[in-house]
Amino acid sequence: MNFNDNLLRAIRGEPIRAIWFMRQAGRYLSEYKKLREKYNIFEMIKNPEISAYITKLPVDKLNVDGAILFSDITIIFEPMGIDFEIVENKGPVIRKVLNEDDIRNLIIIEPFESLDFVYKTIKILKSELNVPLIGFSAGPFTLAVYLIEGTRSKDFLKIKEFMLKNPTLFDLLMEKLTINIYKFLEFQIKAGVDIIQIFDSWIGCLSPNIFKLFILKHIKNLVSKLKQYNIPIIYFSLNTYSILHILNELDVDVISIDWRIDIGKAREILKDKVIQGNLDPAILLADFEIIKKETMEILKSINYKHIFNLGHGILPNTPFINVKKLVDFVKEVKI
Ligand code: CP3
Repeated sequence: MNFNDNLLRAIRGEPIRAIWFMRQAGRYLSEYKKLREKYNIFEMIKNPEISAYITKLPVDKLNVDGAILFSDITIIFEPMGIDFEIVENKGPVIRKVLNEDDIRNLIIIEPFESLDFVYKTIKILKSELNVPLIGFSAGPFTLAVYLIEGTRSKDFLKIKEFMLKNPTLFDLLMEKLTINIYKFLEFQIKAGVDIIQIFDSWIGCLSPNIFKLFILKHIKNLVSKLKQYNIPIIYFSLNTYSILHILNELDVDVISIDWRIDIGKAREILKDKVIQGNLDPAILLADFEIIKKETMEILKSINYKHIFNLGHGILPNTPFINVKKLVDFVKEVKI
């Protein structure tokens, strides 16, 4: 079994094309839907055999160049002492949002003890995969959104009010979350993941100034601590056209962008950084002619120093055949 290192080479900036998808391991796959009839999400994540099987599904079925660990950004909440659940069609819901005492008492996790199942899953995958394994966590602000808002938000007003009224307490929360995220990512690296992706899905709700004042130093701190492990880091966010120049300051290998920005513009702002994205996930719901046309638009404006991916995760109602045809097309097309 030859190891396919296309993704690692593309991250290093070599002129090679690589493709994988965010949320490739879940909801649109028939095998996954079958398992879901029997198990809930955490039963699957906590079972190393099942989690490894789901992680491998898109690699076997789609021939993508990377595997993303089947897990969730909220998996560190339980060891942190957070009372929450995943609600169908809604996502994480915190039963009791954090107050000042909760923040001061927030537990610093020991992943080797509390997240042993993740270690086992990674070990299985490392012995069976022929592509790089992507480990992940959320960014500190994205986790803070759930802890303060209680669930995903449209306007993010609760967290904004909280941070503006209690800047010192918010800073403490960010510091503690950053430590926990660091420990969780360090643990995944030690278990054997080849690449790290930081999902900072919700930072795009902030103004450039507030982002710089309240958030940036924590992300920089996280990245600089991870750097000692010499592992490629991908930083993902949404709606961040207006702060892309600030994100370019991060010492990460890849910046993942959504579809709201022209990729040529992103190339100018991100200088020589490798870019990941930026096909709109909704395009995969369309006829293949449209998928092909939109894919060509991206490939014509950015041939290399680019990892082909969507601007966000695969949508649950995406036809598998469209994803399959897209991978084949991207792998075969000559520009
Ligand atoms: O989508 C993103 O913005 C990426 C970051 C992110 C993940 N989970 C990564 C993930 C976020 C913001 C979450 C929170 C979360 N957890 C949500 C989103 C709700 C919201 O606020 O928008 C949901 C639905 C969950 C629970 C969850 N996570 C389920 C039910 C599943 C399994 C199947 C699926 O895709 O619905 C996950 C898996 C998951 N979450 C992965 C990742 C990277 C696993 C890898 C993969 O599916 O490829």
